[in-house]
Amino acid sequence: MPVRAFEVRAGSAISFAARADRTVLQEAASQGITLPSGCRSGGCGACRAKVLCGEFVLGPDALALTQEDRAQGFALLCQTYARSNLEIEVGESLAAANRVVRLHEVAFPSPDVAKLRLDVEGQPLLYRAGQHVDLALKDGTRRTYSIANPCADGKHLELHIRIVPQGRFTSRLAGASPAIRPGVRMRMAPPRGDFHLRESARPVVMVATGTGYAPIRAMLLQMLSSGSRRDVSLYWGAKTAADLYDTEEAKELLGKLGGRYVPVISSPVHNAVLGDFSTLSDCDVYVCGSPAMVRAAHSDFIAAGRLERTNFFADAFGAAPLCIEAIDEHI
Ligand SMILES: Cc1cc2nc3c(=O)[nH]c(=O)nc-3n(C[C@H](O)[C@H](O)[C@H](O)COP(=O)(O)OP(=O)(O)OC[C@H]3O[C@@H](n4cnc5c(N)ncnc54)[C@H](O)[C@@H]3O)c2cc1C
Ligand code: FES
Repeated sequence: MPVRAFEVRAGSAISFAARADRTVLQEAASQGITLPSGCRSGGCGACRAKVLCGEFVLGPDALALTQEDRAQGFALLCQTYARSNLEIEVGESLAAANRVVRLHEVAFPSPDVAKLRLDVEGQPLLYRAGQHVDLALKDGTRRTYSIANPCADGKHLELHIRIVPQGRFTSRLAGASPAIRPGVRMRMAPPRGDFHLRESARPVVMVATGTGYAPIRAMLLQMLSSGSRRDVSLYWGAKTAADLYDTEEAKELLGKLGGRYVPVISSPVHNAVLGDFSTLSDCDVYVCGSPAMVRAAHSDFIAAGRLERTNFFADAFGAAPLCIEAIDEHI
């Protein structure tokens, strides 16, 4: 039996057909329509959109959608399957202009983590600590990276990038040909994503694996510069001590904030949180890193009755899909 297809409209300019067995985001991309998105696996919130009219169902991984979002009719388009014609309102300006950044410096705090310092060309770039950007590759694909510093003058970005063996982008940072070296200019899509510090006086528990430390570092530095007095803990997990590439800095930052830094080696980092907190119900929990860890933390914190869904915020570092839309020309 043929799969049903529905019409999806976003404003007066965008309209496309969406099959009932594919997500709205997949269907838009397959028809050359670029909607805001990041992880494409329900973890980052970049594809959050309001459904103004129509029926839909959500896939099981809509982690970045709060109960409040659901009650207000928001959906994650990477998890949304149409069940009737839909009218949606996308959260970010589709016309947001791409930018150019120049690679200023690459450092290797551990053998498989590169720290990139980028200079932003043109106007200062505004963003919230915790958001991510997309770098465009020559083949038209893109790679998403969290910004590791809060927005100060809007002219300098720091990225922490784990080198993936044979990775198309990251292996070139580690010297594979054609190598990416200081001086290279890259095209970059504007910062986006819903992973940022919510204003509140509640204690903050931050949980990271590997380079998931990057956006959390930006938030910690923001807390420091704003004189935050919130109770804060950071649990940072990795396979080996060397993989906690900035452990001294993390310790120092948490020390300045009067908080607690807990490095966790070769065991599930979220279990360390469960071991220390009999309840998280009065906390805001920020989780970032591998999708497996984000998923486990989400289900175990909430299933264990220790946390409300609405106080769980996450960004999952999923791999780029094999086929994604080009964002622009490349350099
Ligand atoms: C919202 C978001 C934020 C991100 N932020 C960061 C960040 O700050 N720092 C960072 O290091 N990475 C981050 N990532 C991951 C990053 O976008 C790339 O996926 C990664 O750098 C690999 O790119 P590559 O071209 O080298 O590898 P590819 O050529 O895309 O992949 C090579 C192989 O490795 C696998 N692979 C790639 N990435 C991963 C992964 N993350 N987990 C498991 N398998 C993988 C692929 O499936 C493929 O088999 C983020 C991802 C998302 C969605
Ligand atoms: S792209 Fe849908 S939640 Fe990340």
